[in-house]
Amino acid sequence: MSMETSQQTYTFPKGFWWGSAASATQTEGSVPGDGKGPNIWDYWFEQEPTRFFNGVGPGETSQFYRKYKEDIRLMKEIGHNSFRLSISWSRLLPEGKGAINEEAVAFYNDVINELIANDIEPFVNLYHFDMPMQLQKIGGWVNRQVVDDYVNYATLCFQLFGDRIKKWFTHNEPIVPVEGGYMYSFHYPNEVDFQKAVQAGFHEILSNAKAIQAYKQLKQGGKIGIILNLTPSYPRSQNPQDVEAAEIADAFFNRSFLDPAVKGNFPGKLVTILKKEGFMPHMEEGDLALIKENTIDLLGINYYQPRRVKAKEHMPHPSAPFMPNHYFDSFDMPGRKMNVYRGWEIYEKGIYDILKKIQADYDNIECFISENGMGVEGEERFMDEEGVIHDDYRIEFISEHLKWVHQAIQEGSNVKGYHLWTFMDNWSWTNAYKNRYGFVSVDLQEDGKRTIKKSGHWFQSVSEKNGF
Ligand code: BG6
Repeated sequence: MSMETSQQTYTFPKGFWWGSAASATQTEGSVPGDGKGPNIWDYWFEQEPTRFFNGVGPGETSQFYRKYKEDIRLMKEIGHNSFRLSISWSRLLPEGKGAINEEAVAFYNDVINELIANDIEPFVNLYHFDMPMQLQKIGGWVNRQVVDDYVNYATLCFQLFGDRIKKWFTHNEPIVPVEGGYMYSFHYPNEVDFQKAVQAGFHEILSNAKAIQAYKQLKQGGKIGIILNLTPSYPRSQNPQDVEAAEIADAFFNRSFLDPAVKGNFPGKLVTILKKEGFMPHMEEGDLALIKENTIDLLGINYYQPRRVKAKEHMPHPSAPFMPNHYFDSFDMPGRKMNVYRGWEIYEKGIYDILKKIQADYDNIECFISENGMGVEGEERFMDEEGVIHDDYRIEFISEHLKWVHQAIQEGSNVKGYHLWTFMDNWSWTNAYKNRYGFVSVDLQEDGKRTIKKSGHWFQSVSEKNGF
């Protein structure tokens, strides 16, 4: 199939969701007296500031907490009809449970009302990598108690904001805290312990099902889903061992969360390996039935890069810590198109392959592209005299992905929208402000001054014409 169609116009279905996504810790910042409790990022930055690019921590970020009215005006200006934010658990409940921070309730109410007043539908995510520190002290997702604390927090959010919020998400990329916190050392508590990784992942899945159950009991009439980073696994070749390696990687990194969230069960390949290696999680009676019965209504798909895989070439040391890649090797395909700043491959057709898989194997569940985007370092060099960044590479990145989304729609995919990561340049965890992703630039030297980039203006016209 050729995508050489520069003259063609791409029109999307009526009501397509155009917008962007962001998260609390990456945008809000904190100001003295706001009542926010610390989460793992505040704590980790205090302990190990050198882990963060240029020593920039989560305290300041992009000041959404103070500037949200201006930001929402800009969202409107660049054509948003929807926007995903997350609620900061430790802003709402500074200890993770117990006393409520009323300032946070007022803040989120204002943000939600302001979005709605501007005809931008708020999509709300409950957990974006930000465990309250008090709960991390008792083990975070590894401790089953935290599942109940999370469900209480989620229920509180439904009660406080559910009259206006009709699209909820239980988690954003739940595999990432597992990878970062217990395997590859890029989130606190930066341990290397596969048993804990599996337990944390299982508890997140359980918390998803329990939050869905709690939401349905309230009968608020909205939808509830989850946001997953799906990285299609491509084998190096059709050799059966390469194919098997790719299927195992798919089971570990995609189906581990996708299958329980959508179908209520776990992929056999994954369970077989966990049993064989002795890493099954601790479960209680009734857990699997609860997961089976409480599946999502709506799937958010974050897509950045594919995963290329080949059969294992060298076995790790027999007593090295277990990792999924004991079953496969990564394949650095020569000539890949790369985003060199982030070190991620750009493969536009991957977005189509995911959508086709969801259509074929997951009952074509209602879904949307909840994140896609391109982080670039040193964008100032593309700035004109007015301070506008000419990010033509981002326009190309988005439109090349949208063409494939459009193609999937022509073939019957139930994909309902496209959100860019992200609205404005924000704090990217340990990468801090290294790579910029936004439609809107943020000048950290000038109190976070906002300027719409060329891509933001372009997006406005896409949204207005419902295509390009
Ligand atoms: C997604 C996350 O993985 O990708 C975001 O949901 C994140 O929180 C984004 O910022 C970009 O990745 P990174 O690592 O460059 O910030």
